[in-house]
Amino acid sequence: MLRTAFTTLLVVSYLARAYAQTWCGKNYMAGSPVIPPGGQFPISATSSSPLLAFRCAPAIKPYLPEDVPTLSSFIIDTPITKSEITGAAPISLPGHGSLGSVAVTVSVDGRSLATGVVPLNATKFELPFSLAGFSPRAEAYNVTCTAEYSSSSLSKPQQFSTGAALSLLPDPPAGRSVTKMDLRTGALLAKPATGNGGSYETVFPIGFYTNFAGYLDSNLTLLNVLKEQGFTVHPVPTFDNLTALDLILDRMQELGLYLMYDMRWTYMNDTAVTEEVNRIKNRPNLLLWYTGDEPDGTSDPLNATSHAYDLIYSLDGYHPVSLVLNCEDYFWTQYTSGSDIVMQDTYMISNNVTFSNQWETPCTLDYGCCGCDDCKGNFEDISTRMDDFAERLWDNGWDRTKAVWTVPQAFGNDTYWTRQPTGKEYIVQAVLGINHGGLGVVAWNDPTTPEIKASASALALALPTMQDFILSPSASFAHVSSGQVDVGVWTVGARSLVLATNLNYAEATLPLASVPGVEGKSVQQVFDSGASFAGGKFVFESTGTGGFIVS
Ligand SMILES: *[C@@H]1O[C@H](CO)[C@@H](O)[C@H](O)[C@H]1NC(C)=O
Ligand SMILES: *[C@@H]1O[C@H](CO)[C@@H](O)[C@H](O)[C@H]1NC(C)=O
Ligand SMILES: *[C@@H]1O[C@H](CO)[C@@H](O)[C@H](O)[C@H]1NC(C)=O
Ligand SMILES: *[C@@H]1O[C@H](CO)[C@@H](O)[C@H](O)[C@H]1NC(C)=O
Ligand SMILES: *[C@@H]1O[C@H](CO)[C@@H](O)[C@H](O)[C@H]1NC(C)=O
Ligand SMILES: *[C@@H]1O[C@H](CO)[C@@H](O)[C@H](O)[C@H]1NC(C)=O
Ligand SMILES: *[C@@H]1O[C@H](CO)[C@@H](O)[C@H](O)[C@H]1NC(C)=O
Ligand SMILES: *[C@@H]1O[C@H](CO)[C@@H](O)[C@H](O)[C@H]1NC(C)=O
Repeated sequence: MLRTAFTTLLVVSYLARAYAQTWCGKNYMAGSPVIPPGGQFPISATSSSPLLAFRCAPAIKPYLPEDVPTLSSFIIDTPITKSEITGAAPISLPGHGSLGSVAVTVSVDGRSLATGVVPLNATKFELPFSLAGFSPRAEAYNVTCTAEYSSSSLSKPQQFSTGAALSLLPDPPAGRSVTKMDLRTGALLAKPATGNGGSYETVFPIGFYTNFAGYLDSNLTLLNVLKEQGFTVHPVPTFDNLTALDLILDRMQELGLYLMYDMRWTYMNDTAVTEEVNRIKNRPNLLLWYTGDEPDGTSDPLNATSHAYDLIYSLDGYHPVSLVLNCEDYFWTQYTSGSDIVMQDTYMISNNVTFSNQWETPCTLDYGCCGCDDCKGNFEDISTRMDDFAERLWDNGWDRTKAVWTVPQAFGNDTYWTRQPTGKEYIVQAVLGINHGGLGVVAWNDPTTPEIKASASALALALPTMQDFILSPSASFAHVSSGQVDVGVWTVGARSLVLATNLNYAEATLPLASVPGVEGKSVQQVFDSGASFAGGKFVFESTGTGGFIVS
């Protein structure tokens, strides 16, 4: 009887598995039925009258005792919208004239930290506050932010309220590094990876998921080359030889290479995560943790990433947690809730994104797997994905506390993908990601072609100049797209960084005069992947990209 029940269970579970071959919740094997995957991100309802989506966040996460003597700030956002996004509430605006302002109070346990008048529809308005009087502790302080809106047409003021977490941690144990996030920009801040001290600086990681087995573990000198090439290293597990891993991590520290530590195979095993986090957390070059690798593709339990996140924070707490999502729209909120940094890996080069060459089925919104979920097969798949992720952060009220990174395709001649990207195509992917808000670029994977390596290194070596713009809290940003030339413009003071990439497989030009907000005559090129400036115009080769400082 028992045995029969057990056999039945095995058969049922085998059948369930045979039919549960899904990716992004979609069936993809020829002959399997079309079953809508579900899990779509809801489209916000539209309100007929204006809403205030009042938001607040501390400028830095986490603070440390060393930050207490310095004034910091709360970032206040007061967007007026008609989308019923998280926390948006009706506001009775005047029919005409200026929008006016709100009186904002930031408090903890009833004690006021900051007050100020903030214009309506403001972005990143900073109210100074002091940490004096707060005791460092592991648990975040719950902050209440209120906004009061008065106008002559209202009999009594309207009240708005929202919350934020303020983290002031004790000094870390000796040797442990801290990676902070600047919530004004989403940028990471860390001390030099050597562990020999120094001040916090912005970090713009660019590099590869780098094979451990048969590559990093075979020759330590590879790391010296990766350092010279300007890369950050994300070793790919399994780390079956811990002696070899230690040698690699020691060499990385000596060279000043930050570590992105990957637990893709173990993140759902609490015992393994505990062992790994405790083993790695005191390495001074640790930049961040990485948990799920496409957990949405494999439909990992919806609480798996947030569970790992909480466990990692309970064991460490001084480094952010990242993961990558592969699906265009599958339980995005659930998986992303377990991250500080969510990456997207939209691989659209050389695959047929509408008919699967692996499974010989069509790929649609509810069926099939073509190696790029819900893609059209053009570079815009990447910028659309970046924009969608940013929009969802915004809708969820997570835009200040989580960042989006991009994963370019640096592989090919493999299953869905018939060839390797060219060096210039790699650059288009990376820069498109940056122009659409990406604050880290980690391509899959190294080893790659010498051509991609050379292109990626040129970008990596140009980034220290460009990140002074991209990661500056005082930068204003504009985005333009003209004739499939995608342009990001970051302006700090009288100088602008223009990062422009040509998505066409043909030459293109873009007059400087058509780039808004850029004034000035001096154009200095800081990055060249097949673009130049001449006669008042940017000139691009097929899939060419350039970085220019206009002053
Ligand atoms: C708020 O600012 C946005 C972006 O600058 C602008 O498009 C919008 O018209 C403004 N809304 C109102 C109600 O002024
Ligand atoms: C902060 O708020 C969260 C969620 O409301 C709650 O679980 C937590 O206990 C609060 N922490 C403190 C220190 O009050
Ligand atoms: C190790 O890598 C370095 C740098 O790429 C290379 O010069 C050297 O020849 C390699 N050594 C071996 C034994 O493969
Ligand atoms: C593990 O790596 C170390 C250091 O490279 C090496 O000496 C050792 O032989 C390796 N062990 C195994 C079982 O491969
Ligand atoms: C979880 O990880 C521990 C420690 O590495 C290991 O011993 C155990 O077998 C793992 N459990 C599963 C279910 O893989
Ligand atoms: C995830 O949710 C499931 C179902 O609600 C529950 O049984 C399980 O314990 C949860 N897992 C974790 C890791 O929290
Ligand atoms: C994809 O494959 C289908 C079926 O073989 C073919 O009709 C279509 O032209 C292909 N699309 C591309 C962009 O190669
Ligand atoms: C593509 O892969 C196959 C087998 O993996 C290999 O034989 C071939 O040389 C590769 N082609 C290119 C252009 O890399």
